[in-house]
Amino acid sequence: MNYFKKILRFAKPYKMFAVLNIIANIFYALFATLSMVSLFPMLSVIFKQTEPIYTQPIWKGVFNAKEYIFDYLSYFVTQKSGQGENDALIFMVALVISMFFLKNLFNYLAMYFITFLRNGVLKDIRNELYAKTVELPLSYYSEKRKGDTIARITSDVLEIQHSFLSILELIIREPLTILFTIIAMLSISVKLTIFVFIFLPISGFLISLLGKSLKKKSDKVQKEQGTFLSILEETLGGLRVIKAFNAEEKFSNTFQHSTKRFYDFSNTLLNRQNLASPTSEFFGIAAIGVILWFGGQMVLIEKTLKPELFIAYMGLAYNILTPAKAISKASYGVKKGNAAAERVLEVLETESPIIEKENALSKNTFENNITLEKISFKYEDDYVLKDFTLNVPKGATVALVGQSGSGKSTIANLVTRFYDVNEGSITIDGTNIKDMTKKSLRGLLGLVTQDSILFNDSVTNNIRLGKKDASEEEIIEAAKIANAHNFISELPNGYNTNIGDSGNKLSGGQKQRLSIARAVLKNPPIMILDEATSALDTESERLVQDALEKMMRNRTSIVIAHRLSTIQNANTIVVLQKGEIVEQGSHNELIASNGAYKKLVDMQSLA
Ligand SMILES: Nc1ncnc2c1ncn2[C@@H]1O[C@H](COP(=O)(O)OP(=O)(O)O)[C@@H](O)[C@H]1O
Ligand SMILES: [Mg+2]
Repeated sequence: MNYFKKILRFAKPYKMFAVLNIIANIFYALFATLSMVSLFPMLSVIFKQTEPIYTQPIWKGVFNAKEYIFDYLSYFVTQKSGQGENDALIFMVALVISMFFLKNLFNYLAMYFITFLRNGVLKDIRNELYAKTVELPLSYYSEKRKGDTIARITSDVLEIQHSFLSILELIIREPLTILFTIIAMLSISVKLTIFVFIFLPISGFLISLLGKSLKKKSDKVQKEQGTFLSILEETLGGLRVIKAFNAEEKFSNTFQHSTKRFYDFSNTLLNRQNLASPTSEFFGIAAIGVILWFGGQMVLIEKTLKPELFIAYMGLAYNILTPAKAISKASYGVKKGNAAAERVLEVLETESPIIEKENALSKNTFENNITLEKISFKYEDDYVLKDFTLNVPKGATVALVGQSGSGKSTIANLVTRFYDVNEGSITIDGTNIKDMTKKSLRGLLGLVTQDSILFNDSVTNNIRLGKKDASEEEIIEAAKIANAHNFISELPNGYNTNIGDSGNKLSGGQKQRLSIARAVLKNPPIMILDEATSALDTESERLVQDALEKMMRNRTSIVIAHRLSTIQNANTIVVLQKGEIVEQGSHNELIASNGAYKKLVDMQSLA
């Protein structure tokens, strides 16, 4: 119920539709009852059970409503019988039909209004989940599988809409139908109704026993959905490797194992769910049988109940069965919905550990320096950086070199605040980056990484990511600086060419130059290059290196480089080893000092 309340918050903006739905449902419940009650006068006419009454009856208040209705009916039939019985019959049949028509009309209206609420909630939860997905830090996803997140946004949300929100409708409609029906039943026969209500709770209890284990089963099904979406996602991403390594069978097996588990789990779940309808129907009919026997006695032996009233009564008893069934079905829905809601709320309620302070500063200029002051950082248990201190003055190019795993990319992750330092501080012009808005911090930074991340869109739109309102000329200008203009012009549709998923229609060097163009267009004062050239062959490296140098002019840069030839001109070269600085100085100084840097250079020249 707790989850249900939290999900209900999403229904708030659609309150109006809920109100309209409730109104329509009140009428629905009313006409559902009246349509059964209206069987009675028709039957009376057919069985000639009306006694002649020649004066119009007088209304004596609600408590005498039953007699008034009987009398009025008789009066009406008596009047009509002058013109022939057929007229009375046609009138009664028309009455029955119009009651049923109104019942169904309001049923449709109720569903019509609730549709907007249901789909609105679906849309809003999805949007909020998406926003959360983007907001959550990268660290969140190093532990989670992408497919699992996709499953939560797609199938779990859908499950909530299916099960939870259909309950929303039942809450009003079915109890009201039951209430109205009970009133009508009571007014026909109190004795019979009391008898009926001894049976309903017994069958209700038996049905609820079945629903118990449903949540756990449903949870398993949803989880498995996440697993196989993850496998699918990984397969699509790694298709090239899977084919090249003849690993189709292995992946296929993993996938089939997952779908097999899904098959097993959902078989158990569905079959248990399928029990709901037949069992409640059976218990319902058993109850009707008992009523037939008990009421039949009242009609035949005690003669305390008119036969046509008894038939209408049976109609009402049946009428109560449908909502009772719906309610028992809804209790399954709650359990299934709970499992899905738990998974959705888990994402929505995850607090991002990268917190933005309430009075965070919007800092849009860079004047003096970036300083990393005695920072320590660990991803998991072991410190990756320990007591690390580095100063990058404005306009300087600082290069970070060192063996792989020494913590170079980690520094890029910390400056961009993808992760927060455990100890120490990172400041820009003396302002701690934790005191700045994330948006303004990242506005100051440009990032080019080893694997250029591009999107399935046109060249223009991929570059435009750096500046939403850039003009065509600005985009072309940026592409020229990035040495990308020539190859873009040769593409089939020039700047409007779609570059495929993750830019797969382009070569590595071309992709990299596009991501440089993107950073150039953004024109941030600080550039961070994380092994921007290391994935490239010598020819494209020359082009990219040239593009990078153009971009770094008049800018402050932190360059992480694997190939040392690319950073010889840096103002300062910092040599890292296991998260600590072992050497620092210009290229010439470091060569002269004949230390770790010299060793690295020698190793690479040999290669
Ligand atoms: N997301 C992560 N979770 C846990 N450990 C990580 C993560 N990213 C990097 N590491 C670890 O941190 C260390 C430094 O990594 P990194 O900064 O990427 O090295 P470099 O860029 O110098 O090659 C490595 O030992 C690596 O295993
Ligand atoms: Mg790295």
